[in-house]
Amino acid sequence: MWATQLSKLIVPKHYFSHFYVIGLAFALFSAIELTYLQLCHQPFLLIRVLKYDNMEGTQRLDKHACIVGLIMMTLHLTRRVYESFWIEKPSKTATMHFSHYLIGLGFYGAMVFGTWLEGLSSLGKPQVETHLFSTMVAIILFVYASIHQHNCHVILASLRKDTDSGYTIPRGDWFEWLVTPHYFADILVYLSLCILYRFQGHILICGLVWTITNLSVVASETKLWYQVHFPTEKYNLAFPNGRWNIIPGCY
Ligand SMILES: NC(=O)c1ccc[n+]([C@@H]2O[C@H](COP(=O)([O-])OP(=O)(O)OC[C@H]3O[C@@H](n4cnc5c(N)ncnc54)[C@H](OP(=O)(O)O)[C@@H]3O)[C@@H](O)[C@H]2O)c1
Repeated sequence: MWATQLSKLIVPKHYFSHFYVIGLAFALFSAIELTYLQLCHQPFLLIRVLKYDNMEGTQRLDKHACIVGLIMMTLHLTRRVYESFWIEKPSKTATMHFSHYLIGLGFYGAMVFGTWLEGLSSLGKPQVETHLFSTMVAIILFVYASIHQHNCHVILASLRKDTDSGYTIPRGDWFEWLVTPHYFADILVYLSLCILYRFQGHILICGLVWTITNLSVVASETKLWYQVHFPTEKYNLAFPNGRWNIIPGCY
């Protein structure tokens, strides 16, 4: 009985935008915290409280990577806020479960703090060593993935004249090779952050694993959905070489 009631706890899918708004608010708050620490050499609010906690594990990330990582995450969330409100045309009927909503809120909060929390001890000190190569690779991958994810969201939005005009097969950009290229781009964004920290940031590694696992499941459901809702001949004519679900050459 209670399980049936729980399963009815759904919210509109366009509440996805809340994840990015709250994530962006955390990112801007984090930026104030770090700037205050750098300029005034004093903890502001959150870092003042964190100092009472065990600082073990907060020397893992270097200072420059934390600053660059927070900037990258802030740019990612800013773009997603822009796309959510001004590009995407979500249907009014699509829903998600409330538990999914709570996980989403927690996920973006964790990812924002993951960009600097494990480097908190290094933040107030001078930089010891700069890892230029990993930083450059990470930035280039991040920009490349962000451009393609934006293109894919524009393509998806262009398929809808209005919010109730249903679904069609998307074409163009990475949609020519993948069923869910916007998900693949999301994976690359988290991969770029992991590269920036040279895979030393445990929170971001968890974020990458979660993104790959979660989005791979959704991608396979999306593939099935297209197979059920569109005639096989039409689909095969559009993509004679087939398409990978989410990761080119892999799945
Ligand atoms: N890191 C993570 O764990 C995580 C988790 C989830 C999402 N994300 C990211 O958030 C972004 C959005 O994810 P999502 O799951 O909402 O993507 P999605 O289900 O593909 O939907 C994106 C938008 O495009 C519309 N759409 C999708 N396929 C369409 C089609 N064939 N024809 C017309 N419109 C179509 C959707 O309409 P409806 O409103 O009708 O659905 C929705 O408005 C993605 O870039 C994804 O990578 C990340």
